[in-house]
Amino acid sequence: MKTYLITGGAGFIGSTLSERILKDGNRVIAIDSFNDFYDYRIKLNNVLEANKKSLDFSSDLKDENVKALKNLVDSENYKLEYVDIRDLKELERIFKENKIDTVIHLAGLGGVRPSIEDPLLYEEVNVRGTNNIFEVMRRTGVKKILAASSSSVYGNNESVPFKETDIVDFAISPYAASKKANEVLAHTYHHLFNIDVVMLRFFTVFGPRQRPDLAIYKFTKLIDEGKEIPFFGDGSTSRDYTYVDDIVKGVMLLANYVENNSNVYEISNIGGSDPVSLKEMVEVIEEVLGKEAKINRLPMQPGDVNRTYADLTKIKNLVGYEADNTFKEGIEKFVKWYFEKVKK
Ligand SMILES: NC(=O)c1ccc[n+]([C@@H]2O[C@H](COP(=O)([O-])OP(=O)(O)OC[C@H]3O[C@@H](n4cnc5c(N)ncnc54)[C@H](O)[C@@H]3O)[C@@H](O)[C@H]2O)c1
Repeated sequence: MKTYLITGGAGFIGSTLSERILKDGNRVIAIDSFNDFYDYRIKLNNVLEANKKSLDFSSDLKDENVKALKNLVDSENYKLEYVDIRDLKELERIFKENKIDTVIHLAGLGGVRPSIEDPLLYEEVNVRGTNNIFEVMRRTGVKKILAASSSSVYGNNESVPFKETDIVDFAISPYAASKKANEVLAHTYHHLFNIDVVMLRFFTVFGPRQRPDLAIYKFTKLIDEGKEIPFFGDGSTSRDYTYVDDIVKGVMLLANYVENNSNVYEISNIGGSDPVSLKEMVEVIEEVLGKEAKINRLPMQPGDVNRTYADLTKIKNLVGYEADNTFKEGIEKFVKWYFEKVKK
């Protein structure tokens, strides 16, 4: 049995990954601050679902609710740590108390637009927080980590599809800059302290438990309710959407790789490799919902990239990864979840 420490374990990707690790018979230590970037109660539910448990929260207070959750879910195979990754002391306590095989570091602030509103916070959480994780690994001798980067590091890369060998020195948002900084920090700790690292460049992830601030969730809700959707630009911007189970599949294949090899520093795209334009994205949601969208045309937003498109040659060669879900199949699963769990 292996022990995975997952930061951001109550989030969208972290809870889906936890569920898979538990299903495989391994152990999870989940660190999360349950921050209010979006409603923290969604994250309480994510943890419950990952552990196949349910609980009616009676309190209005976050601290009490997280405590009640922890009492319910903590077990031999799962441990919840209500901790902020900016708190080095608490991280050190957790790393000393547990025998950790592999760290999967997903905690952080997502989102390009909010990062433009508050660049210093993104630096504080995403860069200092990530540095803390590497530092505590150095101090306690944990040697294997996979950490979330992002396709945003490619900025407005001219050549497509985006390859890991492309130069990514031209970030166009504080969020992207923080993720690029993480890749550089990770290399430093690898070089100096023999930490084996895979940096994960996720391409727009979607699916059940998706963050409500992201387009697919927002559009599904608004179209279903007959409300206008904000439509930025002429609809030709495109994204390489990746269904969350495919992200989990890629992360676990790469985890296996980092666990079974030494002297590893790799950066890997994980995508669907089938870019979909904004216009097509809306059409697919309309088709699956059986409802027509009301469109509110708005200018392109600063910081948004024109397109993302993952070259998957590297991850294919390294670990045999291929995405299993088409965009439409993913949307069908997302919409099913939305009606079963959110709308009810
Ligand atoms: N979802 C995507 O499309 C996407 C794309 C590229 C990269 N990523 C990256 O993947 C990671 C996970 O993304 P997600 O979509 O699951 O987001 P999410 O917001 O659902 O999950 C992140 C989790 O981290 C926690 N967190 C935030 N700040 C923290 C702190 N200071 N200390 C402890 N926990 C903290 C949050 O409470 C949340 O539960 C992030 O690093 C994100 O930048 C996501």
